[in-house]
Amino acid sequence: MARRKLIAGNWKMNGGRNSISELRGIAEAARAHVAVDVAIALPATLIGLAAEQVPELPIGAQDVHAVDKGPHTGCISAGMIREAGARFSIVGHSERRCDQHETDAEVRAKAEALHRCGLGAILCVGEQLADRDAGRAEAVVTEQLAGSLPADASGEWLSIAYEPIWAIGTGRTPTVEDVAAMHGAIRARLHELIGDAADGVRLLYGGSVTGDNAGELLAAGDVDGALVGGASLTAAKFAPIIAAG
Ligand code: G3P
Repeated sequence: MARRKLIAGNWKMNGGRNSISELRGIAEAARAHVAVDVAIALPATLIGLAAEQVPELPIGAQDVHAVDKGPHTGCISAGMIREAGARFSIVGHSERRCDQHETDAEVRAKAEALHRCGLGAILCVGEQLADRDAGRAEAVVTEQLAGSLPADASGEWLSIAYEPIWAIGTGRTPTVEDVAAMHGAIRARLHELIGDAADGVRLLYGGSVTGDNAGELLAAGDVDGALVGGASLTAAKFAPIIAAG
């Protein structure tokens, strides 16, 4: 099945009101490459402003709470980010799985909360270096996938991002062969879990993607796009990745 490439940025805890000009530059790069979908996950504080100032660029959040409202100090619901102008959110990023000890079940519930609100989700999975060195990377990742996969998973609203934890922000990437093998394993497990709907789900690669390596990573088997951290922060660095898509 032909899947459009998705090049998504994750600004993590970066950016302020003065970053809108970068988002305008990214929107311009997206306009120049209409065959590729482009989206940016922003800090919650910027979602409303960005959605208002750069409405052509799909804006998302980086996390949501699993329930719709209630006594959860400091948390933000899917309905709240939708009202602010978000169209999707990342869930299960390793920085949350590790720092906030999020479990597969919590990640699944967050993705389901997004779906209930009509929003998209980018669900992250990825192994530690020790898992890869021990030869259990595929087992760890596909188990994480099975545990975190929301009900009614389909490509209409869900993408999966494979982000090896040891590749995030380190300048290290897996080989193209390793990326293709992992994406193949994820696709196969998805087939077992949701049948033919697996063919519609985009599989993104994330971890030290730059303008220099995007071309070969995006050409690897079963790679339908990228989830980009550091190199998505400026239009100058992100535009070549969009172009590679
Ligand atoms: O979600 C994106 C990510 O974790 C990769 O970050 O900075 O290695 O591109 P980076």
